[in-house]
Amino acid sequence: MREEHKKAIHEKYQRVLQKGERFWPDSIYKDLIISFAIFLVLVLLATFVGVPGEPKADPSDSSYVPKPEWYFLFLFKFLAMYGQLPAIGKVEWIAAILIPVVVLVGLFLLPLLDRNLKRHYSRRTLALTVMVVFVVSMIVLTLLASTPLLADDTGRMTLPTQMQMWAGLFVPAAAYVVLAGLGLLVKKLGERAGQAQAWTAGVASLAMIALTAAVLVMVPPVEVEEVLVAGTIPEQITAGQDLYFIHCVECHGDDGTVTVIAGVEGLEGTVVSPINSQDVMYTFTDDTLANIINYGQQDLGMQPFGVAYGGELGPSEIGYIVTFMRYSWDDRMEIPEGAVSTIPVPAEGEVPSYEIHIQPLVQRYCVSCHRAGKENNNFLMTSYQEILTTGDNVDLNIVAGDMEAYLILVINGQQILDPAMGDLLVDQMPPTRLMPPEYIDSLTRWIMAGMPEMAVEAQALSPAPAAAP
Ligand code: HEC
Ligand code: HEC
Repeated sequence: MREEHKKAIHEKYQRVLQKGERFWPDSIYKDLIISFAIFLVLVLLATFVGVPGEPKADPSDSSYVPKPEWYFLFLFKFLAMYGQLPAIGKVEWIAAILIPVVVLVGLFLLPLLDRNLKRHYSRRTLALTVMVVFVVSMIVLTLLASTPLLADDTGRMTLPTQMQMWAGLFVPAAAYVVLAGLGLLVKKLGERAGQAQAWTAGVASLAMIALTAAVLVMVPPVEVEEVLVAGTIPEQITAGQDLYFIHCVECHGDDGTVTVIAGVEGLEGTVVSPINSQDVMYTFTDDTLANIINYGQQDLGMQPFGVAYGGELGPSEIGYIVTFMRYSWDDRMEIPEGAVSTIPVPAEGEVPSYEIHIQPLVQRYCVSCHRAGKENNNFLMTSYQEILTTGDNVDLNIVAGDMEAYLILVINGQQILDPAMGDLLVDQMPPTRLMPPEYIDSLTRWIMAGMPEMAVEAQALSPAPAAAP
């Protein structure tokens, strides 16, 4: 028998050899072409699709939950389930090291273990059925990865947890035992052993899939909270711009040009260098800028912004601000199309609305100081409601149709004096430098028209366009 086989294989080998297909260089050449094609596809994917970045690592964040890559989830779920087993579950190295090593070594030794010469699938039922059960259990474990394993008050596993254990551990384990047993009986049972193996693998797989489906219906997987990640440069610039307006405008102005701080508690009259200048942009690298924002310049009056130093900004957010500054102020950089949002200005005769015109304007020029925790006469401007209902002088700030409303006066550069005492009540706004005239005009027209919130309300107030002749 053995000799016959050897002879048959040798003859076949001689025939192939005659045809002239050689390993070197023929096969190697084919391999080279294919691997080069795959390499090209990878380069193209990396260039045109890319992988979205994750938020930058934040060493000070103790709430971070590390998560394995999806293709390892099955292994971690297996470990988690194994840990639930009584007694043996405590011996972690069995599941963490021994079992994976046995499986890997088994794969290496497969050519030596399985010396069956037949290649038709009906003759290779053991290898095939074991692999089917193995792959199905990998899929099942991956699907169940985000479903927690829970115990009830008495410490017993809940029903869905028991079902998970069956789907991921017990059913496949039982199937392997039966399959191996049938494998040993092949000599005795012949054909029927193969059929029984196929049935075993099929029934086990169906049971695992059905249990998994039932568990997923009973306990929806835990949603992992997505952190906002700005991937592309334009997205980062936009995110950085928003953050800059909230955190930096009060001292550096909306465009980084401020040279004397005004209207900020404790820093009145402090001299700062304009941070949009070539001086800063050419001499500071992105890292230096990020560090300045992270640590602040405490001795000079700028507080630290990094969460690690008691501030409000994470490493990604600081990165976005730096990207915004770099692309907006460094004349060696060209800003990508549509990256920086512009503030809409109403057309001639159009009534501005909070929604379209006022909100972005206030966001850029006022919110940095007019939000909770800042000195601002308790006048908060982060929402429509706040603008109309807060402030020490709430009755006089915004009065529909009144050109003498405090807000209109201060944005036009006037100071409000205390009627009784005669000292300064409200300085010009923003305190450092007035807004461009078109924005002053927007705000003024908005108050004159009665402060409509939504675009439709503003439209109703706008005079009808002259009918076409
Ligand atoms: C409370 C006021 C204040 C706030 C808010 C503030 N800064 Fe500053 N910043 C300062 C002061 C004061 C200095 C030091 C003055 C100087 O160096 O000219 C400074 C210095 C800087 C410098 C270095 C300038 C130089 O020439 O050395 C940069 C860059 C800078 N700030 C960026 C920012 C950014 C970005 C933000 C927003 C995250 C911010 N700052 C928020 C007050 C502030
Ligand atoms: C640099 C910080 C800063 C910025 C930016 C700023 N304010 Fe102010 N604002 C203040 C401070 C501080 C006060 C308190 C009065 C004072 O010190 O002048 C104030 C007070 C006011 C008041 C009076 C509120 C009241 O009830 O007494 C109005 C109105 C006002 N600001 C409007 C604005 C508007 C509109 C903008 C945006 C165009 C703006 N401010 C931007 C710091 C700022």
